[in-house]
Amino acid sequence: MNILIIGASSGIGREVSLLFLRNGHRVAMCARRIEPLEEIRRQFPYKSFVKQIDVNDCNSTSEFENISSEIGDLDCIFNVAGIGWQNRDLDSEKELLTVETNVEGFTRTIDWAFHYFASLGIKGHIGVISSIAGTKGLGPAPAYSASKAYQNTYVQALSQLSKIKGLGITFTDVRPGFVDTPLLGDGNSYPMLLKPEKVAKHIYKALLRRKRVCIIDWKYRVLVFFWRLIPNFLWYRLKI
Ligand SMILES: NC(=O)c1ccc[n+]([C@@H]2O[C@H](COP(=O)([O-])OP(=O)(O)OC[C@H]3O[C@@H](n4cnc5c(N)ncnc54)[C@H](OP(=O)(O)O)[C@@H]3O)[C@@H](O)[C@H]2O)c1
Repeated sequence: MNILIIGASSGIGREVSLLFLRNGHRVAMCARRIEPLEEIRRQFPYKSFVKQIDVNDCNSTSEFENISSEIGDLDCIFNVAGIGWQNRDLDSEKELLTVETNVEGFTRTIDWAFHYFASLGIKGHIGVISSIAGTKGLGPAPAYSASKAYQNTYVQALSQLSKIKGLGITFTDVRPGFVDTPLLGDGNSYPMLLKPEKVAKHIYKALLRRKRVCIIDWKYRVLVFFWRLIPNFLWYRLKI
């Protein structure tokens, strides 16, 4: 398989890239930091391709075109790029940065992926990492949880659009719980922390099987099930 992974320089994206490469796939990797990508390329010189791309840059789509012409026709495009933090002080600058990457950058990237497959007539697969945080509005992370709910809905909408247009483009929405990556390196402690290597294995299978929604792992599936049942008047009172 030829796969493009956006946000491959650390955390979950890096682990997923390594797993695809170890299993013999050809992987094109993007992020703003190029050196971590070059380090992977040195390990897999014949199967990996790298490009420095900022999803918030309007020109990122032409860079996606460039790297996809290097690797050849893509079968799968996986968007991992995202930022987030706790923001209990409701610092608007942080909120807007989150929206810029997780909503605007995300939309630019996913729209490009959709048009890429549609214009080539490829029944390709598009994966995104949203989060279980999209299930409910989280007081400590307002823009983050709202941006993840946006991603959930956007992917649902494009799945329907693909059907309406008869394009055969499919989607996986990956929703992990807390994962031990630099994104959570803010000094706070997080419960039920998952290892990125383990999360990458779940994602690998979900992308190959074109699973529509993938909540990782089973403990978080149970948690999300009960979260959804909590009525708003109780949710607002929860001290999380
Ligand atoms: N860790 C968790 O607990 C957790 C839970 C659920 C969902 N997620 C989601 O999983 C995804 C990956 O996060 P992670 O935990 O693996 O954190 P991470 O290690 O910080 O990885 C984030 C990745 O996104 C890339 N990125 C960020 N902004 C970008 C931009 N403007 N343009 C291009 N690439 C950009 C980063 O690369 P550069 O900095 O080099 O650009 C990096 O490769 C995020 O969408 C996050 O919301 C994480």
